[in-house]
Amino acid sequence: MQIVRQLDPLRDALAEFRKAGLKIGLVPTMGALHAGHMRLVEMAREQCDAVVASIFVNPTQFGEGEDLDAYPRQEAADAALLEAAGVELLWAPTPDQIYPSGYATKISVAGISDGLCGAARPGHFDGVATVVAKLFNQIRPDAAFFGEKDYQQLAIIRRMARDLDFTHDIVGVPTVRDPDGLALSSRNAYLTEAQRADAVALPQAMQGAARAIAGGGDVATILADAKERMLAAGFRKIDYLELRNADTLAVLDDFIEPARLFVAAHMGHTRLIDNIPVS
Ligand code: PAJ
Repeated sequence: MQIVRQLDPLRDALAEFRKAGLKIGLVPTMGALHAGHMRLVEMAREQCDAVVASIFVNPTQFGEGEDLDAYPRQEAADAALLEAAGVELLWAPTPDQIYPSGYATKISVAGISDGLCGAARPGHFDGVATVVAKLFNQIRPDAAFFGEKDYQQLAIIRRMARDLDFTHDIVGVPTVRDPDGLALSSRNAYLTEAQRADAVALPQAMQGAARAIAGGGDVATILADAKERMLAAGFRKIDYLELRNADTLAVLDDFIEPARLFVAAHMGHTRLIDNIPVS
């Protein structure tokens, strides 16, 4: 596996792939890789001929007081995992290769970025859309792979790709979970053992609520009960627990398919997010 940090050698390597007629798959990440990220790599491996993974802890998507400095960085271990999974190229740019001196451009996807995580993390999705657009232009992949774990992010990237004429495939990959149901996340590493045990209340409350909503119960009552259960189980604060249209992300007061439940909640200092379909 080639590890490339500068744009010129990146372009040379990509030109070789294209000359050989290879279909290029891109898996963008911020590193601290776990089985969720590796599922994206597996999908890219299945669907493409050359897999490019990127690792860049993107400062513009972290807000004031968020965990940019604490975000886990373990490039050597990540590179070993990617190499073992058959990745051809790791794009691990130095910051100036993404944001050169004087950098001034921002991509903002209106509307769909506002609610859910956009409400609690102002500017976060502008940072995501901007860096992903840059990665798309730097790599020009045939397909790019994103997790449903970050469902709003995936919806924003699909919207941006349609709006800005990125014509490659955007592939959404179902969430990979621990056996007890907690979605894998690089931020789970922040949890103490006791917090990790308590965090199971999140997938349990979501699954219970999804079943009750699909069974025809009153949505507002069910969501209020589920929040109570999570708070009683040790969550400190719930940013949102909402039923939304799975395509437009519009809020649903009543159960109308396609529907999805979205949650963000704080366990100690760690903010966990998740979402599941309701059907
Ligand atoms: P990161 O949090 O490292 O996630 C990289 C990709 O892995 C995202 O597409 C995310 O949805 C996916 N992923 C994370 N946990 C997953 C799980 N349990 N199951 C399936 N997929 C999972 O998301 C980002 O980085 C950044 O915002 C990025 C898109 C790289 C832009 O900086």
